[in-house]
Amino acid sequence: MSRIAYVNGAYVPLRSASISIQDRGFQFADSIYEVWAIRDGRMFDTDGHMTRLQRSLAELRITPPMNEATLMVVMRETMRRNRVTDGIVYVQVSRGAANRDHVFPAANTKPTLIVTAKNLDRAAISKRAASGIKVISASETRWQRRDIKSVNLLPNVLARQAAKERGAFEAWFVDENNLVTEGTSSSAWIVDADGVLRTRELSFDILHGITRGAVLKLAQERQMKVEERPFTMEEAKRAREAFITAASNAATAVVEIDGVAVGDGKPGPVTEALRAAYLGA
Ligand code: PDD
Repeated sequence: MSRIAYVNGAYVPLRSASISIQDRGFQFADSIYEVWAIRDGRMFDTDGHMTRLQRSLAELRITPPMNEATLMVVMRETMRRNRVTDGIVYVQVSRGAANRDHVFPAANTKPTLIVTAKNLDRAAISKRAASGIKVISASETRWQRRDIKSVNLLPNVLARQAAKERGAFEAWFVDENNLVTEGTSSSAWIVDADGVLRTRELSFDILHGITRGAVLKLAQERQMKVEERPFTMEEAKRAREAFITAASNAATAVVEIDGVAVGDGKPGPVTEALRAAYLGA
């Protein structure tokens, strides 16, 4: 157990070490980490792990909280304060704490940096290596369970930021079959060229939107032609209407997709009717 942690500039006892509940690592998994092995006080693959840390930061466009040399000093000091000679040193950097919003926070938001170090049971590790281990098979679900409203939202954050940088509000994810799954934080709908209201069927592929369910019911009650069936981006661009649903946005029209106007480029009647019905207007 690490007894002293480095947190954003201070060495603090682990039991009182804390970060904000608004930290993006906590809220969006918008965060990276590295782990180095230490044996007889020697750090293994020092440069390899540091290079990967820098790469992970660069890939996510998180500003390095300090330069490599200073980080190494902090890591060594954390090891020293915890008397770690055989174990690991752990570094985690998140995009920092900010009001919850998928898009990146203001550029001056300070990344969160934590460093911990702990001894591991060297005898147990050696014993394991001597006897060998067993493995089992697991299906590769990293991350194919979008039906769970988990905070594993890093891909959503990156897509939403890309949307913002291209002057859009939302991004729609497209799967390996070229079909739209859902938005980064909303369900995706169209009124297709034949006037059929469509949204993808429930499965592991999408979050089972509560607003989606309510809007679907309203549409059925109004005898609209509804199909729970996925659509392509091409179909969406040719659709009469497109819209999103989410707790934060009710039903909101999509008037442009990848630069192409949907319908006449204005919120359409079906969207407006469903929005009004949902809001009880
Ligand atoms: N997002 N799909 C995803 C990935 C979502 O994050 C959300 C909601 C929805 C719509 O679900 P509902 O209708 O139950 O709100 C679909 C919330 C609003 C958010 O992350 O802020």
